[in-house]
Amino acid sequence: MDTHLLIKIIHMSSVAVALVIFVARALTLFVGTQNNQPNPKGRIAFVAIQHLAFTVLTISGIILLIMNDFKVQPWFYAKIVLFLVLLSSLIKVYKKDDTILLTQRRAGLVISAVAFIAIISLVMIKPIFG
Ligand code: HEM
Repeated sequence: MDTHLLIKIIHMSSVAVALVIFVARALTLFVGTQNNQPNPKGRIAFVAIQHLAFTVLTISGIILLIMNDFKVQPWFYAKIVLFLVLLSSLIKVYKKDDTILLTQRRAGLVISAVAFIAIISLVMIKPIFG
């Protein structure tokens, strides 16, 4: 199997893991919450898998960029901005800080879900601008 395809499969598999963990961890904001904090059950596993998935996703993405000599379509820049939106909103959603209300966490979750869906739409539609 050629390396490019292999890295692409790793990239897309980490997307799949990230998606599953995104949904599973989102449930901790609705079931068994404690004050303003999400359900603590399985927190360590969620943190570990989510970190791993996003790290592998980023590293494989950078490798693909290098293999493609950094030749990207205009929509790729939107994908990166949305990815940063996704990461920063998720950091806020699950921050261990009692001053962040549950409603604020859920609002952040909606923002990150919109960003995630937008990224997936971009890579599927591959829109041509201009
Ligand atoms: C949630 C975030 C992300 C999702 C859902 C995602 C999804 C995908 C998918 C499905 C493909 C395959 C598209 C196709 O060939 O039809 C792809 C390709 C690619 N991704 Fe990502 N990706 C994400 C984040 C990133 C990041 C952070 C980077 C860069 C650091 C990146 C760099 C790339 C590159 C360069 C390709 C092109 C591969 C090629 O066609 O040669 N991705 N991505």
